[in-house]
Amino acid sequence: MKKLPLLGNITPAQFLRDYWHKKPLLIRQAVPGFKPLLPFDKLAELATKDYVESRLVTLEAGQWDMQHGPLHKLPRRSQREWTMLVQGVNLQDERADELLRQFRFVPDARLDDLMVSFATDGGGVGPHFDSYDVFLLQAEGQRKWRISAQKDLSLVEGLPLKILSKFKPTEEFILEPGDMLYLPPHYAHDGVAIGDCQTYSIGFRSPSYQELGEAFLQFMCDSIELPGRYADPELEPTSKPAEIPKAMLSQLADELNKVSFTEDDFTIFLGEYLSEPKHNVFFTPPEKPLTAGKFTQAAAKKGVALSRKTQMLYRGKNVFINGESFAVGKADKVALELLANERKLDGEAVAAASEDVAEALFAWYTDGWLELGK
Ligand code: SIN
Ligand code: CO
Repeated sequence: MKKLPLLGNITPAQFLRDYWHKKPLLIRQAVPGFKPLLPFDKLAELATKDYVESRLVTLEAGQWDMQHGPLHKLPRRSQREWTMLVQGVNLQDERADELLRQFRFVPDARLDDLMVSFATDGGGVGPHFDSYDVFLLQAEGQRKWRISAQKDLSLVEGLPLKILSKFKPTEEFILEPGDMLYLPPHYAHDGVAIGDCQTYSIGFRSPSYQELGEAFLQFMCDSIELPGRYADPELEPTSKPAEIPKAMLSQLADELNKVSFTEDDFTIFLGEYLSEPKHNVFFTPPEKPLTAGKFTQAAAKKGVALSRKTQMLYRGKNVFINGESFAVGKADKVALELLANERKLDGEAVAAASEDVAEALFAWYTDGWLELGK
């Protein structure tokens, strides 16, 4: 892969080897001339929507406060020290989606969302750490970042947000629009706005083992098959009726130990889990959908593109889209993997696709998961 200005003229391989999960990287002019992709009013409007996750953080007389959206009333722009944070802006705006996808040298399975923060002078979310890697791209005004590799990550108790109780910054940078700071997980940081300031956070996801385990057991629930029922033809009279019989315990344990899962089970679970849309994501089906025939004709000319909100992944013969999975044959795999990786298929590729693929594309089109190309 090429050297990327986005990473300070190193290759993704160098970045991943030397910095990813390891140490911070400050990249001056990672995106030269970068400006906010949406005006303040549009951002504030998004924060009023119930399908957009937002927060308002204020610091008044030394008191931290946090309010979850929808945010119908914001402090005055002239008031100091407040921050509005809007998650998932990539789902709402084409250019924000394009920005996030510049980071696709990291697999989609690890990419989360683009969060935009707007802060007035002195605003920030306080010294804290995150559990995920993050790229902090300055979009408007300046922000002073202070960071620390400190191991003591204890938090102030009783606050509505995570604030480090003993923040000891060791480095300090002022970021200008277009500058970007990469921070690995658990790296202490505090960004304070100098004047009106917007920061774009490119965030990653990494499921905790606990959350994954719970979801996996839930998934397996639907697929385990344990025929038969407990039987004890050899039962003998007991003088301790409250005690669970040992023979019962061991017989049932043997039966339950037959629960097993294959690699395919786990692949299907993981693909469905990672491609599942977040709870507040809704797809917009076309207002006047074409018939299947017309759609296929148009798609063979214009091609198709995945909706911004669609998450499409694959592994081996399994293809996953928005929480659903299916196994595909070799011929269809080529077209569907291309669609997943490029997030679009040109007319020629659609025309060459099998009937099964054409049917799937039509179904996804009617669900709003995919659109005709432009
Ligand atoms: C912000 O943009 O205000 C906060 C981002 C962060 O510290 O993770
Ligand atoms: Co942070």
